[in-house]
Amino acid sequence: MLENWQNGGFSIYLHWPFCEAKCPYCDFNSYVSASIDQDAWKSAYLREIDRYADELPGRVVQSIFFGGGTPSLMEPSTVQAVIDRVATRFSVANDIEITLEANPSSVEASRFSDYRTAGVNRVSLGVQALNDPDLKRLGRLHSAAEAVRAMEIAQNAFDRASFDLIYARQNQSVSDWTAELKQALTMGFSHLSLYQLTIESGTAFGDRYKRGKLGGLPSEDDSADMYDVTVEMCKAAGIPMYEVSNFAAPGEQSNHNLIYWRYGDYVGIGPGAHGRFSHPERTRTATETPLSPAKWLQAALAGRDQETRQLLSAEEQGVEFLLMGLRLREGVSLDRFTELAGQDLSPNILAELESEGVIIRRDDQIIVSDQYVKLLNAVLERLIED
Ligand SMILES: C[S@@+](CC[C@H](N)C(=O)[O-])C[C@H]1O[C@@H](n2cnc3c(N)ncnc32)[C@H](O)[C@@H]1O
Ligand code: SF4
Repeated sequence: MLENWQNGGFSIYLHWPFCEAKCPYCDFNSYVSASIDQDAWKSAYLREIDRYADELPGRVVQSIFFGGGTPSLMEPSTVQAVIDRVATRFSVANDIEITLEANPSSVEASRFSDYRTAGVNRVSLGVQALNDPDLKRLGRLHSAAEAVRAMEIAQNAFDRASFDLIYARQNQSVSDWTAELKQALTMGFSHLSLYQLTIESGTAFGDRYKRGKLGGLPSEDDSADMYDVTVEMCKAAGIPMYEVSNFAAPGEQSNHNLIYWRYGDYVGIGPGAHGRFSHPERTRTATETPLSPAKWLQAALAGRDQETRQLLSAEEQGVEFLLMGLRLREGVSLDRFTELAGQDLSPNILAELESEGVIIRRDDQIIVSDQYVKLLNAVLERLIED
C-alpha cells in the first residue's frame, strides 16, 4: 500500500537566520549579525543533511527550499555544497524544485547567476511594495527601481521566479492596492505570493500598534475588499489562487509549499526550523529546532540531535491535515483524512456545511467555498466539533 506521506511528497527546508536589518513587521526567526562564519554554517548544514539521510533512507527529494531570514546572504558556494550533499545522500527527483528566497537589492541580484550555477532553479523575491515611501515605511533596504531590476535579472537567471507583496499597508486604499497589483500583473511572473499585512506581537509594528502609534491601517472591510480584488484580478490575469495567499498559472505552483499543504513529509534544518516526517514503524514525527542560531550551530557542528521531537497522535494528524489542506483550492481527500485520523469526519456536519454553502464536495474531496476562505479557522472548528 502507498505510504500515506507519499500522497504529499518529500522535501527539505533549510533555514538561514540572518538579515541585513530587521523589518518592523517581521516575526520570522531572523537576526542581524555583525559577522557570520559561513564555513561553520556550511559544515553544520552538511552534518544535518547526513544525519537525516541516515534516518530516512530511500526517500526521493522533490524539493529543497532555502528560506529565512535572507538566504540571498548565503555564499553561493554554501548553497552549492548543500545541494550537492543532498544529491549525494538522497535520491533526487528528475524535476526537483530548488527555491531560494532573495531580497531584491542590487548586491543580491548580482549573485543570482552564481545561485543558478549552484543548482537553484526557482527564486522567490521579497519585493513587498512597488513604491519607495511604502518600502521605507516597511523598513526595506531596497528601492522600487532596484526591485524591478532584480525581478528582470531573476527572470533571466532562473527557470521559475515568483515575488511577494504585502498589502493592507498603512495609508493604502483599495484603489491604491488595485493599481499596484495591476502593475505587478504586467511583469510577466507566473507565480505571486500576496500577503495581507499582519501585525505580529513582539515586532516593532506590534509594539507601535499597542501604543496606538501605527496609524492609517485599512479597516477590516477595506482589507476584505482588497482580498476580494486580489482573487478576482489574479484570476482574470491567468494566475488563479491555489492557496489563501498564493497565485499561479497552471503547473507553476510552488511544489515545496504544496508538499506542506498536502501534508507530505519534510525535514527542517537550521535554527527554528520545523519538520514533519513518518517512519514505517512509527507514527508521524513533528520536529522543532532551537531558535537561537548560536545554540543550533553548536549542536549541529557537534553532530548532536538538537531538535525536540513529538510523535503525533492520529487525532493530531487529522487536525493538521485539515488545517493545511483546507488552505488549498484543490481541497482535501476525505479518505485520506480517515486514514490519518483513524475515524471519519461526521457525515451530518459535512451535510450541514454543504447545505450552508460553506464547503463544496467533489467526489472524495471537500473544498472550502470562495467566500469562506477568509474564515478557515471557523470552518475547521465546525468540521472537528464534537
Ligand atoms: C521569510 S519572509 C521573507 C523573505 C525575505 N527575507 C524578504 O524579506 O524578502 C517571507 C514573506 O513573508 C511575508 N511577511 C513577513 N512578515 C509579514 C507580515 N507581518 N505580514 C504579512 N506578510 C509578511 C513577506 O512578504 C515576506 O517576503
Ligand atoms: S522580512 Fe525578510 S528581510 Fe525583513 S527581517 Fe524578515 S526575514 Fe529579514
